[in-house]
Amino acid sequence: MNEIEKRIAELNQLLHDYGYAYYVLDKPVVSDAVYDQLLHELIALEEANPSLIYPDSPTQRVGGAVLKGFQKVTHATPMLSLSNAFNEADLRDFDRKIRQAIGDDFSYVCELKIDGLAIALRYENGVFVQGATRGDGQVGEDITANLKTIRAIPLRLKQPVTIEVRGEAYMPKKSFESLNEARAENGEELFANPRNAAAGSLRQLDPKIAASRQLSTFIYAVGGDGEAYSIDSHGEMLDYLQTLGFPSNREREVCATIDDVLTFIEKWTAMRNDLPYEIDGIVIKVNRYAHQDELGFTAKSPRWAIAYKFPAEEVVTTLLDIDLTVGRTGVITPTAILAPVQVAGTTVGRASLHNEDLIREKDIRIGDTVIIRKAGDIIPEVVGVILEQRPDDSKPYEMPTHCIACDSELIRLEGEVALRCVNPTCPAQIAEGIKHFVSRNAMNIDGLGEKVVEQLLREGYIHNVADLYLLQIEQLVELERMGQKSATNLVEALERSKENSLERLLFGLGIRHVGEKAAKILAEQYETMNALMQAKKEELTAIHEIGEKMADSVVAYFENEEVQLLITRLADVGINMTYKGKKIQVEAGANPFAGKTIVLTGKLEQLTRNEAKAKIEELGGIVTGSVSKKTDLVIAGEDAGSKLDKAQSLGIEIWDENRLIEQLQQ
Ligand code: IVH
Repeated sequence: MNEIEKRIAELNQLLHDYGYAYYVLDKPVVSDAVYDQLLHELIALEEANPSLIYPDSPTQRVGGAVLKGFQKVTHATPMLSLSNAFNEADLRDFDRKIRQAIGDDFSYVCELKIDGLAIALRYENGVFVQGATRGDGQVGEDITANLKTIRAIPLRLKQPVTIEVRGEAYMPKKSFESLNEARAENGEELFANPRNAAAGSLRQLDPKIAASRQLSTFIYAVGGDGEAYSIDSHGEMLDYLQTLGFPSNREREVCATIDDVLTFIEKWTAMRNDLPYEIDGIVIKVNRYAHQDELGFTAKSPRWAIAYKFPAEEVVTTLLDIDLTVGRTGVITPTAILAPVQVAGTTVGRASLHNEDLIREKDIRIGDTVIIRKAGDIIPEVVGVILEQRPDDSKPYEMPTHCIACDSELIRLEGEVALRCVNPTCPAQIAEGIKHFVSRNAMNIDGLGEKVVEQLLREGYIHNVADLYLLQIEQLVELERMGQKSATNLVEALERSKENSLERLLFGLGIRHVGEKAAKILAEQYETMNALMQAKKEELTAIHEIGEKMADSVVAYFENEEVQLLITRLADVGINMTYKGKKIQVEAGANPFAGKTIVLTGKLEQLTRNEAKAKIEELGGIVTGSVSKKTDLVIAGEDAGSKLDKAQSLGIEIWDENRLIEQLQQ
C-alpha cells in the first residue's frame, strides 16, 4: 500500500469512528471542524484518485444521480405495525393476556415511540447495501440513496456481519424548525410536522434534497429471527446492535411489572417536550425472545408488543358546516367543516362526525363552538360542543331523508346506526367502489387517484371496474391534468394489475365483511374464483377464520347475477383469477398437515415456534393462536397450559413435539 492508499484507508476509518462516537455513543471525540477538515482531506484525495473511493466511504453519502423512480423491495419478513393502547386499562389488559399465556415470570422493555417513518436497512459483510420504506408492510420502496445521506446510519459496521435491521427515520425538532423557517422565507408551503417533513424528504428522487434535510435515525430491532444471533432477549439485541455501530435509543428501560411500565410512561409524558425529537408514545415489548415466540402474532401485529399512544391534544374551533358523503356501501357519513385550526402539529379543517346518532347525542349544530382532537393522533374528531357559546338562533341539525347523490330514499337498517342509500346504481357508491378496487391494498393501480376516477365516470368512459381495462391512451389524454406520459403509465399499471393474485381481486370487489385478511384466506383455500363462486355456506364456515356473517355475505354476493356478469367481464379482459401464493395441498392423505387448522402451545425444545409454524404452513397447515371447535390438531410442548386443557375438553387430537418432528420429516 502506498502512502496515499494508506491515508485514504485511515481517513475512512477515522471518519467512521468519529461518526459512531457522535451518533451512536452520543460522545463526540472531535469537534465538527476537525471532522469536516478530515472529510475534505478525504474528498480531495478521492478526487485525485477516483479508483480509491470505497463504496462505503463517508464521502459517498450524497450520490450524484437523480433517480427516475423508486424500485420496489419485498421485505424478507413483513414489517408489521403494533396494536395501540390509549390508557391504563388497555395496558393492564395487554399485561393480563400476556400473563395468561406465559405466566408471571417475564419482563418488558419500554422504549420511546419515535415519530418518524419505519425503515429497513440491509448490510452485507458489514457494508450498507439497501434501505427501504415500510410500504404496505410486505413491499416497500428502495430509498437507499436517500438513507445514505443520514449521518446516523452507519455505512460500515464494526464487524463484517450480514444483517437486516429495522428502525425509525425522523427529523429532529431543530432541523424541522429551521427547515420551515427557510421555506417560509422562500414562500414555500410549510411541513405540518416533523414526521411529514421526514417522509417528504425521503420521498425525493434527488438525494441532495434529503442530504440537506438533516434527518436522523434510531434502530429498534433486527429483521427476522433474533435468536439466529444467539441472543436471548430484545434488550440484549439492542445492546448488540449498538456494538455493531447502530444508533439505538438509550432512553429505554427493562420493567419487571406493568406498574413499572406505567411509571416509565408517566415519566416520559412529563418529559417528552424536553427531547430533541418528537415522540408520540411508548413502545412496550416482552423482553425474552422465547416468550415472544410463545405469544406469536396476529395478522397485523405481534402479541408481545403494544404501542401506548399519548393522549390527543384538544382544541376549540367553529363548526362552519356539515358535509355529507356517500360511501362504497351506501353509508352516509357526515363530516364537520371547521374553521381551520392547528391540532397536534397539523392544520385541521375537517373532522369526522361518524353518524347521525353522534350528531344527535352531542347535539352538534352548525355555528357551534366545538372541541376537536385527533383520535389516535391521526383522524380528527369532534369531542363535544361548548354550549355556553351557542348562537341564540341555532337549530338542531337534521340529516337528509334522500340520498344526496341519487335522491333515493335513505333507510336505516335494523341494528345499524348509519343511514344508507340502498340503490345499487347510486353513482356515488359506484365511484367509491371503483376507488376501492384500484386502491393500494386491492388491485394497486398507480395513477388512478380519486379525481381521475371521478372524471372517468363523469365522461362516461367507465361504468364499472371492468371498463377500466378497456381504457385507451387516446381517451385518457383528453382528461384534465393527464399527459401522454401519465396516460401511458396508467395503462401499463392496469395491464400489470391483471397479473395480481386472486386475493387482491377478491378484496377489491368490496364484498361486504370481506377484508384483506379474509380475502387472503378465501383465495388460499379456494385457489380459483370459480371454485369460490360455487362455495356453500357450510363449507365456508368450516374454515377457521370465516364466521356466519361473512359466509352469508360471500354466498349472497356470488349469487347475484350482475356480479356473475362482472366477473365474466373481468375474466374476459384478462384478469388473473387464481391464487398465486403458496399452494395448499388439500388432497386427503397428502400429508397430515394439509388443510388442517393447528395450534402450537407450550415450549418447544428442538424447533422455535416460528420454525414449527413455517414448516407446518409450508405443508399447507394453518397455524392459529387459539383452540376452538374448528381446531384439528394441537401440538403441545413442555408446560402447555390452558390451551392444552381446552383441546382435551374438546376432544381434539394432541401431539407432542417428537411426533411433530417425526411427521415433518416424513
Ligand atoms: S417496534 C413488529 N419500536 O411505530 C413491530 N416501533 O406501529 C416493530 N416506532 O411502524 C415496531 N418507535 O415505525 C418499534 N421503539 C420503537 C418504535 C417503533 C417508533 C414505529 C414503527 C412502527 C410503529 C408501530
